[in-house]
Amino acid sequence: MVLNTILEGDFSGKRVLVRVDFNVPVKDGVVGDDTRIKAALKTIEYLLDQGARVVVMSHFGRPKGKKNPDFSMAPIAKRFSELLGKPVTLASDVIGEAVEREVNALKAGDVLLLENVRFYSEEEANDPSFAKTLASYGDVYVNDAFGTAHRAHASTEGVAHYLPSYAGFLIEKEVKFMAPLLESPDKPFVAIIGGSKVSSKISVLESLSKTCQTVVIGGGMAYTFLLEQGHTIGGSLVEEEFRETAASFLTKAAERGVTVILPVDHRCGRAFKEDEEAVLVDGPDIPDGLIGMDIGPKTVALIVDELKGAKSVVWNGPMGVFEFAAFAEGTLDVAKALAASSAVTVVGGGDSVAAINTFHLADKISHVSTGGGASLEFLEGKTLPGIKALEK
Ligand code: 3PG
Repeated sequence: MVLNTILEGDFSGKRVLVRVDFNVPVKDGVVGDDTRIKAALKTIEYLLDQGARVVVMSHFGRPKGKKNPDFSMAPIAKRFSELLGKPVTLASDVIGEAVEREVNALKAGDVLLLENVRFYSEEEANDPSFAKTLASYGDVYVNDAFGTAHRAHASTEGVAHYLPSYAGFLIEKEVKFMAPLLESPDKPFVAIIGGSKVSSKISVLESLSKTCQTVVIGGGMAYTFLLEQGHTIGGSLVEEEFRETAASFLTKAAERGVTVILPVDHRCGRAFKEDEEAVLVDGPDIPDGLIGMDIGPKTVALIVDELKGAKSVVWNGPMGVFEFAAFAEGTLDVAKALAASSAVTVVGGGDSVAAINTFHLADKISHVSTGGGASLEFLEGKTLPGIKALEK
């Protein structure tokens, strides 16, 4: 995959339409985690240094094609401006005559942030005439919205049909770290995959097991695999309709010579409750009356040991019910193990990224992806339409 990159473009004096993913948490009109805004600054600053007039666009939440003040970009414009250290004008809308005037009034070094592109249903429908209107606000297009690259929407894919298009620095970095994992990672390569459902993670397991030497399976989905291995799982989560898939994955992994590590001990609860106390089960079999809710210390030790010799590690998905305090330890221990590893470490997915951030470990990880669904789909080996549109 060879992309047109931002360093190849000429932006001087040009109107540059930039798609970012500023879909960030906002509470009471204030931005919470601003990682995604910070991650896009390098591209915006570079364009401004080149003397560009910058029109930025993003979605925020899911307003379902309707204008809704709860989903206005206003709080995001404020935080964006603070981080950029210069004024950011919030456009009055996404399209329309007023927006045209606002775009035409831009001078070199100015930044205009369009309102939420999802105020129009044409955005998610990837409507060509809506995409053409957005494209009319730029002479060139830069896409840096990795987090939305798995959506074929007007602002992520459609506009690329009408303008010379380049990948921003963030998309370049995401691809630089993740593409080798699917092609030729430095070995040994360990994939740690968690999450509650086999159904949502089986594709990524299949994809990564083509290039990894070891796969660690944790989280709620591990119990379906343990059941297939003949273990008892008490009242733990099981996806009956995915038992066969799990079994066939284990067979395929063995044929490929991939080592599969499943939990060898557990932290269990008697009920799936936030204030439940953890009961340690010192072995792979969970007795009746208990629900597996996190991996135990012996499993953590196995993972730590596996990471010692690793050269590449990818982690996606929590090891347990991370949102309940008594069952967060396995996930947090894995976060620490990655931070201590000398391998190239890549973390993607909301909960694993949250665990890294809770412990302030992001600067000890080679790459923390800004994509949730996008990084998962990338690692599944799928083509992301927002990135495909930037290929040479
Ligand atoms: C995300 O947060 O994963 C992206 O911004 C995409 O959002 P969406 O799932 O609403 O398309």
